[in-house]
Amino acid sequence: MKALTELAKRRGFFFQTGKAYGGVGGFYTYGPEGATLKSTVESTWRDRWVTREGHDEIDAPTILPEAVFEASGHLDGFDDLLVECPECQSSHRADHLIEDQTDIAEAESFTPREIESLLAEHEIECPSCGTPLAGEPVEEFNLMFETAIGPGSTNKGYLRPETAQGIFVDFPRLREYARGELPFGVAQIGRAYRNEISPRNAIVRTREFTQAELELFFDPESDDPPLSRVANVEAPLYSAADQDGDGEVHFEAIGEAVESGPIADDWVGYYVGVATEWYERIGIDLDRLRFRQHQPEERAHYATDCWDAEADVSGPDEEPNWIELAGIANRGTYDLSHHAAHTDERFSVFQEYDEPRTVERATVDPDMAALGPEYGSQAADIAAALEELAETDRSAFEGDSVTVELDGETVDVPIEQTGFQVAEVTERGQHETPTVIEPSMGIDRTVYAILVHAYDEDEIDGEHRTVLRLPAEMAPTLVGVFPLMDKDGLGERARELERELRAAGLATTYDDSGAIGRRYRRQDEVGTPYTVTVDYESLETDTVTIRDRDTTEQVRVPMAELPETLAALRDG
Ligand code: GAP
Repeated sequence: MKALTELAKRRGFFFQTGKAYGGVGGFYTYGPEGATLKSTVESTWRDRWVTREGHDEIDAPTILPEAVFEASGHLDGFDDLLVECPECQSSHRADHLIEDQTDIAEAESFTPREIESLLAEHEIECPSCGTPLAGEPVEEFNLMFETAIGPGSTNKGYLRPETAQGIFVDFPRLREYARGELPFGVAQIGRAYRNEISPRNAIVRTREFTQAELELFFDPESDDPPLSRVANVEAPLYSAADQDGDGEVHFEAIGEAVESGPIADDWVGYYVGVATEWYERIGIDLDRLRFRQHQPEERAHYATDCWDAEADVSGPDEEPNWIELAGIANRGTYDLSHHAAHTDERFSVFQEYDEPRTVERATVDPDMAALGPEYGSQAADIAAALEELAETDRSAFEGDSVTVELDGETVDVPIEQTGFQVAEVTERGQHETPTVIEPSMGIDRTVYAILVHAYDEDEIDGEHRTVLRLPAEMAPTLVGVFPLMDKDGLGERARELERELRAAGLATTYDDSGAIGRRYRRQDEVGTPYTVTVDYESLETDTVTIRDRDTTEQVRVPMAELPETLAALRDG
């Protein structure tokens, strides 16, 4: 939406960073209006997703060592497909070129070879210089920003591509804090970094952005589903699939998330409901919001299921333009089990049984293992191998001897020398790796969608105006205070009123420059829901007029009641 990007730049919502130095693609600065709006989006997220859900919030570093991303799979699998123009050497995301220049809606799931065929078949051209890209190789490009930790370059680190890993790596500490009881949720809001091949659409796809993520750890066997906590969730759900195999993805409405509806997992269904509630509160038009299930090929390397929240951010008279605002994914046990496998820590939770259970346990008592001198220095290793075998394969101890493998060599140990025994033990519970459901919200895209959905143009008294119809809670400024004119003491009284409103904690601005109609337009354009005018009657009766941004109607109220009246209007 060109008009919105222009307004955002002119009125201080967001603009490209460091234009004086030419500006680097994918980096944006929020100006005074935008920074306030973004911070309100973040505080409403915290209110809805952390405080009201009873979860814990943490604040982890944005740089983590290489080993973390080796374990998480990001080093290997966090790639996008890149094609370079042979003529102008510009780099492009190959799947985006296919989507932009054909009717194919979701090209992300194609392999590099499939994309190469599509480049030729659809005669795809370089968007920078028009050169045909048929025959160019398509490569996997890792999106993480690499850095060196400390002097020298031996200790590699990466800027986090998602806030989530900061939660997973410290699961052992967070589990202690939660007293080891499932379910529990840990949330985090902060910057994430991706070296996007083709940043685009202002703050929609940048290289540094803000995510607000919740990791909910739960036991899938537990009969504690969350649906009792959500009343009647109504959100449109879509599946996207290439139903007729023509390479084009079609969207099909599959119902509403009343309870979990067609969503297999209760917690995912629940979070579709929470997201819908939150989006409505912050000004997303629910008629332009949908939840779409990923196709299997589209899913991230860690996900077993994912539903994206998508918003249509097209302008008036434009074709619908759906962008992803959030992903609600089932990450299974992927992250915790990978971090467990790469470290010596336990990334599981001890789940106590209702009643202690008596079970048979096969063991090899290393003290009893009567391995004679004939085993020499190998005796300790053989005892360890026997111990592992007893735990994993009892049937190996059923014959006269047991075979173990040591450094590629097989060694036969007579059964009576193994120290094998089966004992009855009482177990109070067992260690289990929790399953993770992750609602991951992109804050920047949410800000963008709020602005697009709030943007409107109309006519007031025959004059064209641009207005942002933001919910009062979200507006960067709640009230503009104007003197009718800056003379006869009106300006002083208006300034005094401005100070009183600020002291009452209300976001207030003062403006006495230009005709009053122009001052209204300026506030309409940044979404200020109320403007208060101090006029000659104000000086006589201690009253002011409050003008409503959307209806432009005015009511006169006593000045003394203004702070409470405005706070009540803001809080609905
Ligand atoms: N931890 C899960 C995860 O990171 P994701 O779908 O890759 O999932 C979550 O990202 C959200 O972060 C997206 O839905 C989107 O809103 C936002 N996001 C991702 N890449 C972005 C980018 N380059 N610029 C702005 N926002 C982005």
